[in-house]
Amino acid sequence: MVCCHHYQLIAGCDEAFRIDAQSMVFGPGCLSEAGAHAKSLGMTRVALFTDKGITASDHVAKVKASLEDAKITVAIYDDVAVEPTDESFKAGAKFAQDGKFDGFVSVGGGSVMDTCKAANLYASYPADFLTYVNAPVGDGQPVPGPLKPHIACPTTSGTGSEATGIAIFDLLSMKAKTGIASQHLRPSLGLVDPLVTHTLPKNVIAATAFDVLSHALESLTSRPFTSRTKPDNPAARPYSQGGNPWSDMIAKEALRLVGEHMVPAVTDTDNLEAREYLMWASSLAGVAFGQAGCHLPHGMSYAVSGLVRDFRPEGYPQHQPIVPHGMSVILNAPSVFRMTGPHAPERHLAAYACLGGTHDAGPSEAGDAVAEQLIMMMKATGIPNGLTGVGYGMDDLDALADGALPQKRVIDMAPFKVEREHLRAMFEGALTYW
Ligand SMILES: NC(=O)c1ccc[n+]([C@@H]2O[C@H](COP(=O)([O-])OP(=O)(O)OC[C@H]3O[C@@H](n4cnc5c(N)ncnc54)[C@H](O)[C@@H]3O)[C@@H](O)[C@H]2O)c1
Ligand SMILES: [Fe+2]
Repeated sequence: MVCCHHYQLIAGCDEAFRIDAQSMVFGPGCLSEAGAHAKSLGMTRVALFTDKGITASDHVAKVKASLEDAKITVAIYDDVAVEPTDESFKAGAKFAQDGKFDGFVSVGGGSVMDTCKAANLYASYPADFLTYVNAPVGDGQPVPGPLKPHIACPTTSGTGSEATGIAIFDLLSMKAKTGIASQHLRPSLGLVDPLVTHTLPKNVIAATAFDVLSHALESLTSRPFTSRTKPDNPAARPYSQGGNPWSDMIAKEALRLVGEHMVPAVTDTDNLEAREYLMWASSLAGVAFGQAGCHLPHGMSYAVSGLVRDFRPEGYPQHQPIVPHGMSVILNAPSVFRMTGPHAPERHLAAYACLGGTHDAGPSEAGDAVAEQLIMMMKATGIPNGLTGVGYGMDDLDALADGALPQKRVIDMAPFKVEREHLRAMFEGALTYW
């Protein structure tokens, strides 16, 4: 039997997928609606999370004023780390626990929204830090129930975190990123104002747009939901279900938008419309991968960012080395898609077409076609030339493979069974592209 959209059903495997529609308000100027939405969610005393790079911005001021106009008390927390760590998550959680808030508002990029999700979690259900962290790194215990209401206001056009139940951090003792994933972490509302993109530095636009691109591309090429064993309890389908007709539809539109608008948004500072389209693409991609899941470029990125030595890109805080998330993802991507292409050629060809690819590629060239399209976009937007461009070399391949291997939550969503030698080979293929 065939499910809708040509998903082939397999005996013993799942036959149904779940759709969790995210509550979202999208439009220019909508940050000034924050107070009204907070009130309707029952908030009276709010923790407003942001980071020091944007505390003084109009975006934060607009949200704070709107909350205060609605007679809501606001306490600002801006000690969020850009690319958060377990330590910075714990500090945010302590602020949330001490403040006894009845609601949370985050204004910032993925770093801020994720820290706010974690703070809300540990304030609502106090526990040892590793309790809810994904296994095998943490205990992988389920989040016990709903959290306090949270309005997430993204100020980067990248992570889609306003639409996901995921919070990512760098576990310092392991020098690798990992996360917490649960339906309960999904914000009550995403308040998405595309005007915030007007103040983004060029490098942040490039890195975050590649994050969007990879969310959509990984959703579209993740293993199909029909390849997962049928769950014993249908109410407990995994958070990442695999590719499905709902996520495919949304991922394709996100890819089309990024294919059209990424390069102009980065290279032409006057093209504000292109930036605004990227915000819409970001939220769409968040919905897609929030239902399907990401796979190898993300799983491998957690080692690339965790093992960073001395790379400090323009547009990001300079006090510590950092490979920004979207950059750490896309540096792996061409090498990954060359390897995944043969396992889902028609999906890779669909992605290639959505991204604006014009060559008449056949199924055997699907992975290479996607890789070449990505490399062209990386060159056009000033992304470093592979992992060597951010300081890695042949001597790092084993450490990178070892760092990525425990990222089972994402790596297991790849369209083929991934072993350590595959990871090493894909990192090697990602060292230099041109
Ligand atoms: N939860 C999820 O589903 C998910 C998905 C993808 C990535 N992530 C995580 O999100 C984090 C990265 O988030 P990000 O890429 O959004 O960047 P970010 O939040 O780390 O911010 C990057 C920089 O941009 C600045 N900035 C943010 N908005 C700005 C604006 N409007 N104008 C000017 N400067 C602005 C910040 O101050 C910071 O210096 C990583 O930790 C990553 O792992 C989470
Ligand atoms: Fe991402």
